[in-house]
Amino acid sequence: MSLNRELQLKAVDNFNTPLYLYDGDRVVQCYRELYDFIKWPKLKIHYAMKANYNFQLLKLLNAQGAALDTVSPAEVLLAFKAGFSHDRIIYTANNMTEDEVDMVNSLGVLMNIGSLSRLERFGEKYPGSEICLRFNPDVVDGGHKHIMTGGDLTKFGILMKDVDQVVEIVKKYELTVVGIHEHTGSGLQHTESVFQSMKNIMTIATVERFPDLKFLDFGGGFKVPYEPNEARIDYVAMGAEITRLFSEYCTEYGKELEMYFEPGKYIVAEAGYLLVEVNTIKDNNGRMIVGCNSGFPQLIRPMLYDAYHHIVNLSNPDGEMKKYDICGNICETGDRFAEQREIAEIREGDILSIENSGAYCYSMGSVYNLRPMPAEVVIYEGEVKLARKAVTNEELINSILD
Ligand SMILES: Cc1ncc(COP(=O)(O)O)c(C=O)c1O
Repeated sequence: MSLNRELQLKAVDNFNTPLYLYDGDRVVQCYRELYDFIKWPKLKIHYAMKANYNFQLLKLLNAQGAALDTVSPAEVLLAFKAGFSHDRIIYTANNMTEDEVDMVNSLGVLMNIGSLSRLERFGEKYPGSEICLRFNPDVVDGGHKHIMTGGDLTKFGILMKDVDQVVEIVKKYELTVVGIHEHTGSGLQHTESVFQSMKNIMTIATVERFPDLKFLDFGGGFKVPYEPNEARIDYVAMGAEITRLFSEYCTEYGKELEMYFEPGKYIVAEAGYLLVEVNTIKDNNGRMIVGCNSGFPQLIRPMLYDAYHHIVNLSNPDGEMKKYDICGNICETGDRFAEQREIAEIREGDILSIENSGAYCYSMGSVYNLRPMPAEVVIYEGEVKLARKAVTNEELINSILD
């Protein structure tokens, strides 16, 4: 299922390191799989483009007829450029400014509103509009505390107990609520959390309160394995329960509604590789420190979330397994992709592949230490395409001066 070693090394020969390499076929396959898991005739998958906004990947998903979850005006503009029409985009930014609301609304994109005060201001300015409402599902789950979005400690969504206030505001401004949304977290650890959030949202999304619903949107968060022995969630079983719950709800509501999910990680995480070159090895009194030509600004998940990314030595796959700290080129001690990790013997000049680097890797990138972001290459149906050039030092400096 993964891109083989030869293809990865060939990409390095052609495009140098550091390099982000994506398997476009895998992205399309993961997107399509979701329709096999969740057998609801009116299922619509909104890819959460914050996970990876690579333009070629967006175009592949657009060709599949995918929809999008967007969180900033620039994401919406990029989505349009990739061919997505306004009716396939939802806008779920948080703490939106007036300007961005005006801009996104004027483009005909459905606003997903997650606070009472924003709802009031939106209604006042745009009475009679169609809207979606984001509620906090009051379920706490996710791969790390920074990416749990339900429960009292988060800034996201309207509390369910405030639903009657919501209904009052909606009536006052003659708004039409076409969708109700929740997102529990990213990297959900328990399938039960998905079911519980669905049930909680269904309790408040009654036909009496919201008679014009077209869809319920249950967010993203589908976990993928990052560690070699990590079990894959049984998404077929999970999909069957999701469909059962939704079917029951629709019967009660009196209409077959659309069901939306908005996964990011599930669609792109496993399709990405960050390829780096080792340039320095130190023996710190027995602790082997490996230095390479990338760093946490180019892949921050290990540092930010203690995330595990599997690392393979492409240049010496059959070498003796040894323990290493894999470090980057940034002036911070925490700049490590892996700590005390067993990897086939590493030598200076070797190419390492940091796997599962398709989601929240390039897209969370920065230029800390003024090291420009690397190139991105997409392989799809045998074609290798440079999707984005590496930023040069000169371009980086010029963009600062401009
Ligand atoms: C509102 C919303 N929807 C969808 C997602 C996608 O989550 P994931 O990539 O874990 O599927 C996120 C990510 O945090 C989100 O905030």
